[in-house]
Amino acid sequence: MPPGPGAAVVELPLIGGAELAPLLEEEKARWLRLLHWDFSPLAELILRYAAMGTLEGFALKDGGTVAGYAYYVSEGGKGLLGDLYVLGAWRSPAHENLLLNAVLDRLRSMPWLRRVEAQLMHLGMHSGQIASAGRPPAAFPRQFMLAALDALPATVPVPGDLHFERWSAYWTDAAAEVIAEAYEGHVDSEINNQYQSVAGARRFIENIVRYPGCGYFAPDCTWVALNREGCVVGVCFASRIAPATGHIAQICVVPAAQGCGAGAELLRRSLHSLRLSGATEASLTVTSSNSRAIRLYEAFGFRAIHHFEALVWDPL
Ligand SMILES: CC(C)(COP(=O)(O)OP(=O)(O)OC[C@H]1O[C@@H](n2cnc3c(N)ncnc32)[C@H](O)[C@@H]1OP(=O)(O)O)[C@@H](O)C(=O)NCCC(=O)NCCS
Repeated sequence: MPPGPGAAVVELPLIGGAELAPLLEEEKARWLRLLHWDFSPLAELILRYAAMGTLEGFALKDGGTVAGYAYYVSEGGKGLLGDLYVLGAWRSPAHENLLLNAVLDRLRSMPWLRRVEAQLMHLGMHSGQIASAGRPPAAFPRQFMLAALDALPATVPVPGDLHFERWSAYWTDAAAEVIAEAYEGHVDSEINNQYQSVAGARRFIENIVRYPGCGYFAPDCTWVALNREGCVVGVCFASRIAPATGHIAQICVVPAAQGCGAGAELLRRSLHSLRLSGATEASLTVTSSNSRAIRLYEAFGFRAIHHFEALVWDPL
């Protein structure tokens, strides 16, 4: 659908929370239908910021209807497109490009920003349809996978010198080191540059633990793997995204400990804990070129139910 004569981009702080609420209702229903994900906690946070006039971004208004919106946050030298959603009846590359370009133009006006990342689950257009003034983004196909938790393996054979413990905040620094090491040279560190340093990985963990972006953190379903010396060599972070749905927000093992079952056992423990706490299914996202991880997930019953792209503008 080309932009109607009435469709215009306006600053989000000029839109009240009440005006944005109907759009978020439709978006919530779509998250639940497509991804089994209760988007309500994040929608409430978005509405709260919108009501205070501090949600940075743009809305697409058509007459009295807020037909789309996009917001961004910035951290250090990086901009993050938090969400871009256009109502089904208005969803078209033309409308999505209007919002995307408004955000990118704004971010380009901030000289301290070098990079922008986005993982927009409900973007209708693909990266080839992005028509922005600057250079096109790098696009990384990703998939959202779901598994039932009724047939988990009872055990995974692992070397006797590995042991596993449940999460405690005590492990935060060690887990950040594991993430930075496991993702060195990995495609996922091109998608999320927090993986490129220990300090960035620490911020990534803090986001999982504190904010509802990846669901509600489930410390009792999060596990670490330790070697004989007591060093953390692998982590699996779990969260709850709906009453009956868990989510694996992160799993990685340092290269030296890969290939001997640590990843499979971490995943098995997190999924088993999620099941014990009432979840009947679990989901995760993975980069489509990460065939090693996908093999592991498929062995646990995960199947792709949604495809999307991670987008990176670097330099912006
Ligand atoms: C993906 C990753 C976590 C796997 O961890 P790992 O410790 O190397 O995995 P494992 O040794 O458990 O090996 C998984 C293997 O176990 C197999 N497996 C699956 N279920 C199993 C089970 N119940 N029992 C035994 N083995 C099983 C898998 O098929 C896979 O075999 P293959 O790779 O030889 O084909 C690890 O490679 C890693 O950290 N990679 C970098 C970060 C990353 O990509 N994370 C995932 C992002 S979505």
